[in-house]
Amino acid sequence: MGRRTTITLIKCDVGSLPGHHVVPKVLLDIGRKRLNQAKKEGLINSYYVFHAGDDLELLMTHDKGENSPEIHSLAWDTFLEATEKAKKLKLYGAGQDMLKDAFSGNVRGLGPGVAEMEIEEREADPIVVLAADKTSQGAFNLPLFRIFADPFNTAGLVLEPTMMEGFKFEVLDQKERSRAILKCPEEMYELIALIGSTERYVISHVWRAVDDLICVATSTTKLSMIAGRYVGKDDPVAIIRIQHGLPALGEVLAPFLHSYFVEGWMRGSHWAPIMPVSLKDSRCTLFDGPPRLLALGFQVTEGEIVSDEDGNPLIYDLFDDPAFDLARRECVEYASIIRRMGEFEPARLPESYMEYTALSKVLEKLKDRFHPV
Ligand code: F6R
Ligand code: MG
Ligand code: MG
Repeated sequence: MGRRTTITLIKCDVGSLPGHHVVPKVLLDIGRKRLNQAKKEGLINSYYVFHAGDDLELLMTHDKGENSPEIHSLAWDTFLEATEKAKKLKLYGAGQDMLKDAFSGNVRGLGPGVAEMEIEEREADPIVVLAADKTSQGAFNLPLFRIFADPFNTAGLVLEPTMMEGFKFEVLDQKERSRAILKCPEEMYELIALIGSTERYVISHVWRAVDDLICVATSTTKLSMIAGRYVGKDDPVAIIRIQHGLPALGEVLAPFLHSYFVEGWMRGSHWAPIMPVSLKDSRCTLFDGPPRLLALGFQVTEGEIVSDEDGNPLIYDLFDDPAFDLARRECVEYASIIRRMGEFEPARLPESYMEYTALSKVLEKLKDRFHPV
């Protein structure tokens, strides 16, 4: 039995500038100070604080398991302090995702997004974390499908005996709040039939079929469902375990050779090409986007993110690489095509996606103006 270690990534938009752009250093420093203190006290084993556009991201490893009230309250208190600072500085959208006042042991359902995975450490445990801004959870459906079920993406599905047994996908129906587990390759068509509807069905976990090894955990917050109104896109995160009988680093990154369309972008109301970017370009600009995606790689050993001699976690900025220039260029080209259409579908999301946006207010305003024909 390997050592049990929990990897937790909790994120929240607590304020940014200018507008919904980036988390300033003052807020990142609050995250670092709090997590450094928690590490000293032995609550967590290691951490890395970063931002995906306007979202403050707290990556931690610890021994408390998933849904630990201590770990969740550490994140909540950190976001509260950052919100206070953001309010003082009148940063934009200060406390935007802090949707509830009372913390009751778990940040799920309160606004922040959470991806968590308790693992039994293998001989070496390499991990990739994905973090997106200005898009929703369904944005990960396509790449997760390609990584864990598409043999044209992942050579291991046809070359590696443990992977040939396939993978199990937990699919969450965000409308009915129910879940189902589908196994690939046997149920591949049914899986695509569901997760092709990215606004409703999202992949929440993936396990290796041969031994039920956990390999993916994603965040599945639906902010509009908590708030009952549009309060920004969910800006999802995912934790993916890789290598040694799981998709290799390069198979996890291969879907990002090309850009593809996700929902989000300006006012969360448009189809948008996604752009894989480095930490330096993790900031939305053009039409509040295009939605940006980070991929960070690291390894976990004896409960900690492997660090250098000075104790700095060794985090690799995986899209900081000319190999993804094509996707970035495609993204801008797709953006220039679709933005020509303004607010006409398919540039704008269909009406059914937008029940929590200002469009519902327009309809409300005009409701007495419609007469039977
Ligand atoms: C998208 C997003 C932004 C805002 C837009 C308007 O997730 O957060 O595109 O919707 O900048 O923001 P407000 O209404 O705050 O001026
Ligand atoms: Mg924001
Ligand atoms: Mg955001």
